[in-house]
Amino acid sequence: MKVLITGVDGYSGWPLALHLLARGHDVAGVDNLVTRRRVKEVGSWSATPIPSVARRLAAVREVLGRELRFYRGDLGNWSFVRSVLETERPEAIVHLAEQRSAPYSMIDVHHAVATQVENLTGTLHLLYGIKEIVPDAHLVKMGTMGEYGTPNVDIPEGYFEVEFRGRKDLLPFPRQAGSWYHWSKVFDSGDVMFAAKVFRLRATDVMQGVLYGVRTPEITDDRLVTRFDFDETWGTALNRFIAQAVLGVPLTPYGKGEQRRGFIALEDSMQSLRLALENPAAPGEYRVFNQFDAAYSVNELAERVARIATELGLRPTIEHPPDPRVEAEQHYYQPLHERLPALGYRRTRELDDVIREIFHDLLRWRRRLVARRHVVAPTVNWRLPDSHGLLRARQPADPRGLPPSVPPEPAGPAPGTTPTSAPTAVSAGPTDPTA
Ligand SMILES: NC(=O)c1ccc[n+]([C@@H]2O[C@H](COP(=O)([O-])OP(=O)(O)OC[C@H]3O[C@@H](n4cnc5c(N)ncnc54)[C@H](O)[C@@H]3O)[C@@H](O)[C@H]2O)c1
Repeated sequence: MKVLITGVDGYSGWPLALHLLARGHDVAGVDNLVTRRRVKEVGSWSATPIPSVARRLAAVREVLGRELRFYRGDLGNWSFVRSVLETERPEAIVHLAEQRSAPYSMIDVHHAVATQVENLTGTLHLLYGIKEIVPDAHLVKMGTMGEYGTPNVDIPEGYFEVEFRGRKDLLPFPRQAGSWYHWSKVFDSGDVMFAAKVFRLRATDVMQGVLYGVRTPEITDDRLVTRFDFDETWGTALNRFIAQAVLGVPLTPYGKGEQRRGFIALEDSMQSLRLALENPAAPGEYRVFNQFDAAYSVNELAERVARIATELGLRPTIEHPPDPRVEAEQHYYQPLHERLPALGYRRTRELDDVIREIFHDLLRWRRRLVARRHVVAPTVNWRLPDSHGLLRARQPADPRGLPPSVPPEPAGPAPGTTPTSAPTAVSAGPTDPTA
């Protein structure tokens, strides 16, 4: 199948490209590298050293023996979107390219507006591009379980039957998002649902649970590694807890720590996306998959991380700072997830095993965590008017961010590898050892 992945340089887009290439699919990817820039903006970097795009593409060629066509550009640019679709004519598009951090969207008015304008514009451009250029293509759009919030009833997969004043209907399940970012996903969902109806598009809206993990079977070489964010803005709670355990500082579930969310291993998310691609929605069909595997509270995550850290000889402690977010700290949470298992989804990874794997990688790259240890504690607060000053104030004085006692981490490809340019007419961008 010919697949276009938007956001191919990102945490999940990169392993998805490898996963599909390894299974013989023809894959092209789009990215404007904005996540690399924005993680720097908040004074952080990926714990795993991410090679430049050119080096990543060369590694794919060398390790997998496959070609990944890459287009550098912004989905906010309509001519760019149109020309990629005209050149590629994909049968399926996996749309991952959005601003994906809830705290980032809550920094101030500019970050809120950028999140919503960029996310909605990119999705609308793709919807019109599909309508005009590849009307039979299947859109797999990445939403989030966070669209639903935490209602006091079970959460169905997108739709539920309602009876009101003696009449019944099947209606979209109400969304109660918890950040400007999550609301951008809700608005996206409405746009995709509407476009499927009026343009007769094939659409799968994936309510993605929180992803965890840093490895998939195709990541056999450090040059193929995906990013791993651990700062308060870009890192998930689990990522931050493991980083905190490695750094020897307390693990910090916010507030009571009974916030429950759906989670899925990175590798199992790739399996789910492939199943969605291989079983496309029908023309005019808008379907919703709740793509998670199990629900955990943040306290459960912290306790698991602490237990495994102790097994590894670390001495973790747990503290509960006030919750900087506005969210229920104790609540009912029972989302359904039946559609993917019906297509053949089976869990292949256990949380504890993945946590051990992440520890293994973070202990190897501990120096990169040490160099950015000041970015894990929260500064972005949902109620404070402007967190940008606080974020700016913690930028490292040394641009490489390494304190004198920490020798710089060699980044990028193994010695002796010659970087090659991207196979398309677009520039792959400079080497970015700090990304
Ligand atoms: N990571 C998770 O746990 C998680 C959970 C739920 C949903 N999601 C969703 O999954 C998708 C992928 O998430 P991720 O964790 O891989 O994020 P990511 O930020 O690592 O990857 C997104 C990629 O898209 C690119 N991008 C962003 N805006 C773009 C634009 N306008 N034009 C071109 N490229 C652009 C970024 O540079 C980045 O490489 C996002 O839509 C996110 O909201 C992620």
